[in-house]
Amino acid sequence: MKILVTGGAGYIGSHTVVELLNAGHEVAVVDNLSNASVRSLDRVEEITGKKVHFYEVDIRDDVTLDEVFKNEQPEAVIHFAGLKAVGESVEIPMKYFDNNIGGTLTLLHVMKKAGCKNMVFSSSATVYGKPETVPIREDFPTSVTNPYGRTKLVIEDILKDLYKSDPSWNVILLRYFNPIGAHESGRIGEDPSGIPNNLLPYIAKVAVGKLEKVSVFGNDYDTPDGTGVRDYIHVVDLAKGHIKAIEKIEKEKHVGCKIYNLGTGTGYSVLDIIEAFGKACGKEIPYVIAGRREGDVDTVYADPSLAKEELGWSAEYDLSKMCADTWRWQSQNPDGYGE
Ligand code: NAD
Ligand code: UFG
Repeated sequence: MKILVTGGAGYIGSHTVVELLNAGHEVAVVDNLSNASVRSLDRVEEITGKKVHFYEVDIRDDVTLDEVFKNEQPEAVIHFAGLKAVGESVEIPMKYFDNNIGGTLTLLHVMKKAGCKNMVFSSSATVYGKPETVPIREDFPTSVTNPYGRTKLVIEDILKDLYKSDPSWNVILLRYFNPIGAHESGRIGEDPSGIPNNLLPYIAKVAVGKLEKVSVFGNDYDTPDGTGVRDYIHVVDLAKGHIKAIEKIEKEKHVGCKIYNLGTGTGYSVLDIIEAFGKACGKEIPYVIAGRREGDVDTVYADPSLAKEELGWSAEYDLSKMCADTWRWQSQNPDGYGE
């Protein structure tokens, strides 16, 4: 299929473009490079030996986006483009509403005009808020604790309403748990600007000597070792989930509006991760116990069985591979893409 990938130069997008090309799909990428380097796509081409059509375009620019659709005539869109820093979203919510919700609305208008009604959207486990029980199933209640999460929930609702109004749309909402890891070539990976907010990129920067020690945000949670438990998933497994979603649309033609968790179903604590990363890089990772981070919850992990049943997808890679691949990327590219 011909797929347009918004945000395709970013972390999850670039890994998904590799898997799409490897599966024989044609890919065009739209990205405004607000949180990415175009070098990621040069490396995608190097890994796959295939070409990616790249457009440096903001998805809020309807006129240029329209031209991209005319040029490329995509049959489906995988929509990653969005801002994702939870803390910043609390400080500058309008930026998030404008970019994530506004951008999606513009994209949907352009898609409709172009007659392209197949959409795979990057949602997040953040829409489950503070779950009452785990593992989390797709039919659990949703709630949000910050403006970033609200943008995901609002976009999910917009897509559901759109589908209700016009069932010729195919919409697949993928709720990601905690993506980590990198392509095993070591050529593409996560390259956050400034000090990382998320655990794995932070640990990786400590391991490579760019940061001094990890702060563990709380050891008084109701978990086996007191630190927060999450469902970490290898970014390549996550990327493959998108290929399965696209293939479902391609095969079935009318899939309706579907929601799938993409997680492994296993939870690891912050201390588990620090230990596993230490093994992968062959050094002890220094850490201190700090206070809780506002808004964090004890335990989050998926029930991924629906994705297995309906997409034929399940995660393959274990925590040691996630850490080994993160370390390969970080140690071979201590300055990320170097911009
Ligand atoms: P990322 O920042 O690496 O990728 C997002 C990409 O979108 C970037 O390349 C950025 O330049 C681009 N972009 C942002 N706004 C744009 C706009 N208006 N027009 C065009 N391009 C724009 O982030 P990621 O980790 O790859 O996340 C991809 C998607 O998955 C995001 O929607 C994110 O919210 C979602 N998600 C991420 C996680 C995670 O932990 N990484 C978890 C759940 C969901
Ligand atoms: N943590 C630390 N120290 C750090 C960073 C994180 O102890 O320096 C802890 C957190 O308290 C949490 C765990 O490590 O217990 C994971 O934290 P992350 O920030 O890596 O990930 P979150 O689970 O908080 O959130 C991430 C994304 C969200 C997304 C969510 C989906 O940042 O955007 O996963 O579950 F919505």
